[in-house]
Amino acid sequence: MGNKRILVTGGAGDIGSHMVRLLLEAGHTPVIFDNLSTGHREFIPKGVLFVRGDLRKPLDIRKAFKKYKIDAVIHFAALIVVPESVAQPLKYYENNVTGSLNLFQEMIRAGVNKVVFSSSACVYGQPLKTPIKEEEPLKVTNPYGATKVMVEQILGDLAAAGKMDYVALRYFNVAGAHPSGEIGIKMDKPTHLIPNVMKAALGKVKQLQVFGDDYPTKDGSGVRDYVHVLDLCDAHLLALKLLFKEKVCRQMINVGNGKGFSVLDVIRTAEKVTGQKVPYKMSPRRAGDCGCVVASFAKAKRMLGWTPKRDLKDILESAWVWQRAQ
Ligand code: WQD
Repeated sequence: MGNKRILVTGGAGDIGSHMVRLLLEAGHTPVIFDNLSTGHREFIPKGVLFVRGDLRKPLDIRKAFKKYKIDAVIHFAALIVVPESVAQPLKYYENNVTGSLNLFQEMIRAGVNKVVFSSSACVYGQPLKTPIKEEEPLKVTNPYGATKVMVEQILGDLAAAGKMDYVALRYFNVAGAHPSGEIGIKMDKPTHLIPNVMKAALGKVKQLQVFGDDYPTKDGSGVRDYVHVLDLCDAHLLALKLLFKEKVCRQMINVGNGKGFSVLDVIRTAEKVTGQKVPYKMSPRRAGDCGCVVASFAKAKRMLGWTPKRDLKDILESAWVWQRAQ
């Protein structure tokens, strides 16, 4: 594939910043495009090219493509908090859908036609069977998931018109952090399980709330497929390779560990990893949640040669290092 210049939208964010480091290690030149609304300036490594801009402003994007000769794009930038998307759908459609439309228009204008898109397991809603394959019907249950389905649809139509090649990676539950402890999931009010478990283990919150104990799972708590952020970034690099290898490429690919862990499993493992008690209390189900979401990553293995290298223990160990470094 050789040294490529990759525009990384959301490259100052929790996941994008891990991808920027991997691109550097692989000998590529990342160009970060971020409005720092949820990204962190301190996550940008010294010397990395950075364009502060907003996907809602096409001229900001045009400036980046004019300034740098871009070979491909990895598109992370989006709002991702499901309950917030229910309360403020327009904010999500404007940022996640209009922002993507503007990006694709500017890519086509600049003659750039390769994109790896950050999609989500949320496109499946509550699946009928798990592990979930990419052929499962899409049944979104919230505006956040709807924005991901819409952007996948837009990419499919652009590809059919011969304007774009893409790999849409459907993330399952991304967690963990860079082993250096320099970057990780840094949300003001984290909604995700693993950051909340770490805060409870550190005594930063009195008790973890376990949302629901009556799901049809082995212990009644929600089951999810946790995938290490570094494994996820490996999948993006392999997706880039596929885009530069294939003449035409239009793929949706799951990225998950293929194993499900319940909330209580995560608590028990976190107590072993941290050596701390995780105080928790059973609470009612959280609106919009489903019982069990676990990936089949057979297609990622077949198309990308990707398999997860890190397990739940690795995820929790790296999250613990990051939490204590805060
Ligand atoms: C996991 C499990 C909760 C917090 C998220 C987002 C979405 C998507 C995937 C990107 C569930 C339970 C959680 C807590 C709990 N990301 N939980 N107490 O909702 O599966 O999906 O990641 O595409 O952004 O929807 O992740 O970590 O919020 O919840 O009991 O304090 O943990 O009920 O069963 P979720 P989560």
